[in-house]
Amino acid sequence: MTLPFEIEEEEQPDFPYVLNRRWEVVDRLGQGGMGTVYMARDLNLQTLGQQKKACVVKELRDDFFRQEDREKAQEFFLREVRVLAALDHPNIVRVLDQFTQNGKYYLVMEYVQGQNLHEMVLKRQQPFDEDQVIEWAIQICDVLHYLHTHDPPVIYRDLKPSNVMISSKDQVKLVDFGIARPYEESEDNTHVVSQGYSPPEQYWGAADTRSDIYALGATMHFLLTGRDPLALTTASPQAINPDVSDRVDEIVQRATQQDVWSRYQSALEFREELAYKPLDDRPLKPKIGYVVAIGFLSVGLFLGALVFISRLHEQSEMAAKQVDEYRSLREKTEVEKQKLKEDQEKFAQFRNMYISEHGEGAPFTTPQVGPEAKGDLPMLEEPKESIPYVSPSGIPVFEETNEAALTDPEGLQ
Ligand SMILES: Nc1ncnc2c1ncn2[C@@H]1O[C@H](COP(=O)(O)OP(=O)(O)OP(=O)(O)O)[C@@H](O)[C@H]1O
Ligand SMILES: [Mg+2]
Repeated sequence: MTLPFEIEEEEQPDFPYVLNRRWEVVDRLGQGGMGTVYMARDLNLQTLGQQKKACVVKELRDDFFRQEDREKAQEFFLREVRVLAALDHPNIVRVLDQFTQNGKYYLVMEYVQGQNLHEMVLKRQQPFDEDQVIEWAIQICDVLHYLHTHDPPVIYRDLKPSNVMISSKDQVKLVDFGIARPYEESEDNTHVVSQGYSPPEQYWGAADTRSDIYALGATMHFLLTGRDPLALTTASPQAINPDVSDRVDEIVQRATQQDVWSRYQSALEFREELAYKPLDDRPLKPKIGYVVAIGFLSVGLFLGALVFISRLHEQSEMAAKQVDEYRSLREKTEVEKQKLKEDQEKFAQFRNMYISEHGEGAPFTTPQVGPEAKGDLPMLEEPKESIPYVSPSGIPVFEETNEAALTDPEGLQ
């Protein structure tokens, strides 16, 4: 069977080719629903002797059967250019140029080195952990807040994993403002939706800023589970991935409520909830300094107290030793004194005996002392050296020597 008409095979020029006398198209990056995205280089800077800067050229698709659809697509495309040109945010891809050539519509924008979130999940074949998802979601909340508070407010309307790129610096970049729309512009009857990511109100063309909140909740669900959320259903990532915490599951559920009033009412409110860390989960980092300082202080105090107590102990031991030494010296001295007294008594006895035998005035000789002594003379011990008496003050006090006492106890000679 032959067709009544021939389908024209569109000729694709060989790479590289130049568009609008400035953009050198070098490769095809990907095909989206609305067009084809090419890798290109800016030739302008080359004339200044600089390197050709990488950029991206988006070509609007042209294969519409109905002229009505073609016009609609062109209108959307021009609106994307208009919206993007009015925006300036580090998380939004920058527009560099827009033109038509050979009846085709082109948009040139900065090149984002990285991948979109859809590709990233497919590549790793597993979901992302929730800390990572929260970090990206916070960045998306920041850019949504920027869009929603812009003058006039812009509703993105197409937040989904393939429209969010993550740059090599881990920075979120929103690409594809194809259906983004300033809020005031009258609603048309073309209701563009992305299954699973668009909230119910978008199906009947009543999207508002809270529709982007829903789409972010749905995007989080995909990142946490690796699966698209069910259309028009509150998403619960924990039901698919039990590793998702209760807190994050509740956040996603709240964001994807079917009733707009039950969702977070603003990107800021959503962000606050994402950034909030329950007490138990908060890192101890800020407190570590205090803990270390208190630790050092306690150890220092403890060591100081130990040194003080040991000094006290040493001193009390020394004092006790001195008292003991003093006591034993006193005792020794008492014994010596006692002996001396006994010797004096014996000598007086002997002298009396001598006088009674030889009469008063008889010559008196010192009795022999020692083992040679005869008769019943009392044995006298050898005289001892003087014993120093140590006073409590530590100064030795010498008492009378034994010798003097023995030889002339009463000062007779
Ligand atoms: N500025 C850019 N830098 C690098 N890659 C980009 C850039 N813009 C788009 N891309 C890549 O091209 C893909 C398609 O781009 P985009 O979403 O703008 O086109 P689309 O036709 O609207 O696609 P879809 O309808 O599937 O969302 C993106 O998912 C992204 O991977
Ligand atoms: Mg897209």
